[in-house]
Amino acid sequence: MAVSPHRRILVTAALPYANGHIHLGHLVEYVQTDIFVRFQRLRGHECIYLCADDTHGTAIMIRARAEGRGEREVIAEMRAAHLADFAGFHVGFDHYGSTDSAANRRLCGEIWRSLRDRGLVVNREVQQLFDPKAGVFLADRFVRGTCPRCHAADQYGDACEKCGATYSPADLVDPVSTLSGATPEVRSADHLFVQLEPLQGFLREWTQTSGSLAPQVANYLAGNFLGEPLRDWDVSRPAPYFGFEIPDAPGHFWYVWFDAPVGYIAATEEWAAARGGTWRAWWQRGGANAPPAEIHHFIGKDITYFHTLFWPAMLETAGLTLPTKVRIHGFLTVNGEKMSKARGTFVLARTYLEHLDPAALRYYYAAKLSGDIDDIDLNLDDFAAKVNSDLVGKVVNLASRTARWLEGTGLAATYPDDGGLFARAAADGDGIAAAYEDCDFARATRLIMAAADRANAYVDAEQPWKLAKAGPDSAARLRDVATVAVNLFRQIVVYLAPVLPTLAAETGDLVGGPIRSWDESREPIVGLPVAPFKPLAARVDPARIAALVEAAKPSPPVAAPTPPAPPSTGAAPMMSDPAEPLAAEPLAAQCTIDDFAKVDLRVARILAAEEVPEAKKLLRLTVSLGGEERRTVFAGIKGFHDPAALVGRLVVVVANLAPRQMKFGLSEGMVVAASGAGATGVYLLSPDSGALPGMRLH
Ligand code: MSP
Ligand code: ZN
Repeated sequence: MAVSPHRRILVTAALPYANGHIHLGHLVEYVQTDIFVRFQRLRGHECIYLCADDTHGTAIMIRARAEGRGEREVIAEMRAAHLADFAGFHVGFDHYGSTDSAANRRLCGEIWRSLRDRGLVVNREVQQLFDPKAGVFLADRFVRGTCPRCHAADQYGDACEKCGATYSPADLVDPVSTLSGATPEVRSADHLFVQLEPLQGFLREWTQTSGSLAPQVANYLAGNFLGEPLRDWDVSRPAPYFGFEIPDAPGHFWYVWFDAPVGYIAATEEWAAARGGTWRAWWQRGGANAPPAEIHHFIGKDITYFHTLFWPAMLETAGLTLPTKVRIHGFLTVNGEKMSKARGTFVLARTYLEHLDPAALRYYYAAKLSGDIDDIDLNLDDFAAKVNSDLVGKVVNLASRTARWLEGTGLAATYPDDGGLFARAAADGDGIAAAYEDCDFARATRLIMAAADRANAYVDAEQPWKLAKAGPDSAARLRDVATVAVNLFRQIVVYLAPVLPTLAAETGDLVGGPIRSWDESREPIVGLPVAPFKPLAARVDPARIAALVEAAKPSPPVAAPTPPAPPSTGAAPMMSDPAEPLAAEPLAAQCTIDDFAKVDLRVARILAAEEVPEAKKLLRLTVSLGGEERRTVFAGIKGFHDPAALVGRLVVVVANLAPRQMKFGLSEGMVVAASGAGATGVYLLSPDSGALPGMRLH
């Protein structure tokens, strides 16, 4: 049956935030999308896969500040890390952009003007919490406090996890900024809003009848948003904010979720420009583009309304192409639970790659993904069992036990009678393709494995290893049987090529050359040479999974050293300490053990201490962390400590603090010292005797 006519398909995956590393949860999306794109290309369609880093917002600004460097330095570093992670999993973008690009700024301006022209933008005063210590307005997730409804402590600024109430951060009881621990102030600021209610009719029509959304999603939107007047969307943030300043509203910046999806178009522009084309060939509605482009967005369920309400509203207003499909997937759980650092199931892409083969995870995700919104579970035992039984036991095994008989002779010159096996699997091709098109990769892999089962039954029945022993009389039969098996193998690999590009390439090297088209599953190949067989896939060793889980856990606490013996009298002297120090600086917001584990405190020995003449308070210290590990740190203790007396003593340093360029040199850490009300000094901390430089504080 003929492949459907040529299509032009633009595919995107959500733009990952630049402030975090790629983990196995993200990969559910990027791998899934990559499989879809490779499938479309194999079918002969023009299909481009675009993505970018999502760089703007408060979080990246805060992080850059904490690390004492510029936002652009941080995002450049994260971009390199993201690209390496994606390449490691064979996620092959055609272009990977950044929302912090010139193209994105310009396109945001264009869409903004169309919103203004339609009269959709209004100004309004907003009460927002402001952190006076950090000097920034606080996004909802940077505020914690007591729920105004059920009085549960330690809830986020926008919603209570206990009772489900949603509220404005200004309503929180006893709010605390998680950035600085300060009590936020309510300040009013001018914000710009996009009115969505005038677009209600359009959104209802598009979400309910265009076929772009799964019925489940359409119903969710109808039930939760479209039944009542749509609230205006707050699209600006006052300075300071890391983002694009709004050209006609100085001092105001587009909210990160305004410029992020425009990044899809900016990535198109950069990709097209490099080829002498234009983004309009993909995003301009109607016109001379033939055939019209399809636009497919892959996203996780948590960002549904941005992509099904706000984004279509922006595109509609700007007169651009609406998404053909928004394909929404669920979240990854590991062993049936939310990913957890403590359990070692919050696994970064790069940690996985240090232990296991990316092809194994690609296959497992494919076998689990059915194109709906349900969460998918990575059960680590099942992962090993499934990959070993399917990929190794069923697929690769077909070639490993037959290809070598053809090394000298090549494939038979005519395709032998195989009892209809090849034709049967060829006939399955349309069903497998339909499953891929629906992103029901689970159904696709089930159909493919059924073909593999039939092929293996054939090999088991024909027993080529016996034919090989039987001598020259059986040579022709052996060649026929191996020719059938290798053809059935290659046919299966054509079907799996979107999931397993490396296996496809290696199979091409073995026999038949690069797999370029789905149609190669329709006709057997004959008369071609067969290369010496090389191992194509390794078993997943459960010991390596165990090692991965260990590596993903935070470093384990070291057993506490024996405390010094208490005085022999036993009873501790009565002590009464003043209350001022604590009162002057109340306790910071609660943190988790994971937060604490991020700060690597070490015992260090001061090797040298000297005054910094230009600085009133600073001493330059050289400290040893043991062995050859040295750090230069500037400590604000001048005047309280005689430099000469410091040399040789043990202190505690923050050893993993990002280096900071100071006027007097690079500071590579921080010495821990106490200070506060009730005394004027600065007090260095020292460990009990017996501690050694390099020991970690737990
Ligand atoms: N920056 C936004 C997207 C902007 S798109 C214009 C964002 N970034 S993210 O890094 O948090 O997530 C990127 C994608 O990965 C999202 O589609 C998100 O749903 C998906 N996933 C993140 N964690 C996930 C799991 N644990 N499981 C499955 N998908 C997950 O959202
Ligand atoms: Zn509550």
